[in-house]
Amino acid sequence: MSRLAGKVALVTGGGRGVGRSLVEQLAAEGAKIVVNDLDPGPAAEAVEAITRAGGEAIACVGSVTDADFPRRFLDTAMARFGDAHILVNNAGYIWNGFLHKISDEQWDAIQDVHLRAPFRILREFHGAVRERIAAEHAAGLTVYRKVVNISSVAATGGTAGQSNYSAAKAGLFGLTRSLAKEWGPLRINVNCVAFGFIETRLTQEVHGETVIDIAGEKRRVGLTPQVMTMFKERIAFGRPGTTAEAAGGVMLLCFPEANYITGQIIEIDGGLAN
Ligand SMILES: NC(=O)c1ccc[n+]([C@@H]2O[C@H](COP(=O)([O-])OP(=O)(O)OC[C@H]3O[C@@H](n4cnc5c(N)ncnc54)[C@H](O)[C@@H]3O)[C@@H](O)[C@H]2O)c1
Repeated sequence: MSRLAGKVALVTGGGRGVGRSLVEQLAAEGAKIVVNDLDPGPAAEAVEAITRAGGEAIACVGSVTDADFPRRFLDTAMARFGDAHILVNNAGYIWNGFLHKISDEQWDAIQDVHLRAPFRILREFHGAVRERIAAEHAAGLTVYRKVVNISSVAATGGTAGQSNYSAAKAGLFGLTRSLAKEWGPLRINVNCVAFGFIETRLTQEVHGETVIDIAGEKRRVGLTPQVMTMFKERIAFGRPGTTAEAAGGVMLLCFPEANYITGQIIEIDGGLAN
């Protein structure tokens, strides 16, 4: 199937987890991909996997929070593929703690990666495509572009120990709904998905302490077996989602069938009771 042939898709955090599955699914549908990740190895592996499967992709390595990142990201898409049609704000990590122990740095870092970076990337996306959109309109062409912001059920239902993350992810709801209204006339669909419990390194089962490296800093991740069992009992399907299933939900919003869907927040959580 090539239902996204001719489309150019930009995905942040595409080197691992849900983002990795998403870039491969988008490429399998014919989209050309700009894969961002903080870490060069996973970004290169994603590009290689796409190329091996017959697709086209280029990496744009770096933190989404860097001042010059949005410009580099969009410039990469325009220089290599000449357009930008699909943008998925997916990159992120967790830095949990109970509110009374959250430092200013911890609060700001999570707002920065999950909310400020998407805002800045979206602003750059607008700058990169607005003249094209004007030209398409003038030529009588109907082209829809898609934005999908990745949120969490931590924002819809709340999670103890994640007030910084929940607040940032809930911020994406307001951003999504307002931008859908601003960008409707431009035929840019702006939607948001809130994942439940998806099996990635952030949610791996841990016995003791497991840390991931975020730009040289160690961040604790993972769920204890007890928390994992508690989660599974609350999910209608009785199991976490796979990265392919989570990415599949995002794909739905990228297809032309979703051209009249905008400003929505869709929970992809296997029926997790909040
Ligand atoms: N896994 C879940 O259960 C779950 C639930 C709800 C929401 N989410 C959200 O889904 C998204 C993807 O998470 P995942 O579970 O696939 O995690 P993951 O750790 O497997 O993948 C995230 C990727 O983002 C990259 N990344 C992190 N910070 C970055 C930065 N500043 N700049 C560029 N890249 C960066 C990482 O290097 C990593 O490759 C995140 O926004 C996360 O908050 C995940």
